[in-house]
Amino acid sequence: MSLAIVILAAGKGTRMRSHLPKVLHPLGGKPLLHHVLETARSFSPDEIVVVTGHGADQVRTSTSAEDIRWVIQAEQSGTAHAVDIALPHLSSEKVLVLYGDVPLISKPSLSQVIAAISDKSMAVLTFDALDPAGYGRILRSASGSVSRIVEHKDASSTELQISECNSGIIGINRKALIELIAQVENDNSQGEYYLTDVIGLYAEHYGEVIPVAAKSEQEVLGVNNRSQLASLERSFQLHQAESLLEQGLGLADKSRFDLRGSVKALGHDCFIDINCVLEGQITLGNNVTIGPNCMLSDCIIGDNVSILANCIIEDSTVGSHAIVGPFARLRPGTTLESHTKVGNFVETKNANVASGSKINHLSYIGDTVMGSSVNIGAGTITCNYDGANKHKTEIGNNVFVGSNSALVAPVKIGENATIAAGSTITKDVEAQQLAVARSRQVIIKGWKRPEKGK
Ligand code: UD1
Ligand code: MG
Repeated sequence: MSLAIVILAAGKGTRMRSHLPKVLHPLGGKPLLHHVLETARSFSPDEIVVVTGHGADQVRTSTSAEDIRWVIQAEQSGTAHAVDIALPHLSSEKVLVLYGDVPLISKPSLSQVIAAISDKSMAVLTFDALDPAGYGRILRSASGSVSRIVEHKDASSTELQISECNSGIIGINRKALIELIAQVENDNSQGEYYLTDVIGLYAEHYGEVIPVAAKSEQEVLGVNNRSQLASLERSFQLHQAESLLEQGLGLADKSRFDLRGSVKALGHDCFIDINCVLEGQITLGNNVTIGPNCMLSDCIIGDNVSILANCIIEDSTVGSHAIVGPFARLRPGTTLESHTKVGNFVETKNANVASGSKINHLSYIGDTVMGSSVNIGAGTITCNYDGANKHKTEIGNNVFVGSNSALVAPVKIGENATIAAGSTITKDVEAQQLAVARSRQVIIKGWKRPEKGK
């Protein structure tokens, strides 16, 4: 049977106190809605419809995906109203309703919900809440099937004792949904059209409502405020940490590790110290160690690399046996080949550093192609920007650049050349030569320091 997935995402999220629509707040670096979309896509549904309202344009442009139909619910008159607006855009036989602000919903639970949909049965995903306050409560018939859902605000004191709650997620055949949703009224405490009323109507007129128990409470938790989002982020991160630990990654503290993306490949015996953030796509070779307080985003780290404390590495590749940091910043387009060293307070950008070269202290190397076995002295700067354009610096193999030199690009330094400390190099230097570009030292004999006047 064909399947449509409807994702409700029109709510304002008032309690987030934010200009950003709630479903665009990130969890693990990715908008809440995108988590739901990814899970939805894993079922290869025939149709995906997202109901938007608040910040509709922003929500729509958050993804370039073309498999989504967007519908707008101008006024949020309830979950049944939102689904009703989506219905004319659907033609599949089965409909699964998800919430844009319930990001961690799992595939196994949803598979069970979908499997329970037939001409004579629908399913609702339930869970046992530690604190059921605010949730709709599940009322069961003598046979054990669901007879009705009562919203917290409409529940009697006895009904409030029930801990089995509605996740909001349902699976139903479309024909029944169309027929029953038309009968939903808004004569309740909130004056809203409740999707939950469809469940009572189905049990009364149509067939069996099968309760599917969620695998965990966490997967049905919704985000209504920043505190809930922060809690969900922690449990999401812990879950990711556990999974990486299982794959053999060493972590100094699983509660002080954040992955906002994915580890594409992981070698053996890698270790990550506390407070590191990994973003985007990360590849780690064998025996990689990452010191505390590092931020890595979209990078490839080779075998036996040591990244010392407090480094920031973005969009870069680090070759085997390299040592980076502490306090180094590799900006986008940096490639360090094997056995290179980049030390403290060094910034690189768009730079290729061939094997065995060292930039150990206090330097800026940008728009540069550097050969192998080069030694860059402390305080060396490639002056790559003339105020309007960027220019390239080329440094041959085995060059020695003395401390506190400025290489004004475009400029080429030939193989084995030496740059004297304190030089400002504005012209190309040929291979093997020594370039000195500084004023000569003068000694003034017998010079006396001025004395204080009387
Ligand atoms: C809903 C359920 C409740 C369940 C709870 C689980 C109803 C009536 N109640 O309550 O039984 O326990 O979820 O979290 O369904 N939305 C729209 N348009 C609207 C209203 C809501 O798109 O007009 C979207 C919201 O953005 C949100 C979702 O639907 O993503 C749920 O709405 P919300 O107002 O949070 O419902 P709850 O009161 O939490
Ligand atoms: Mg809610």
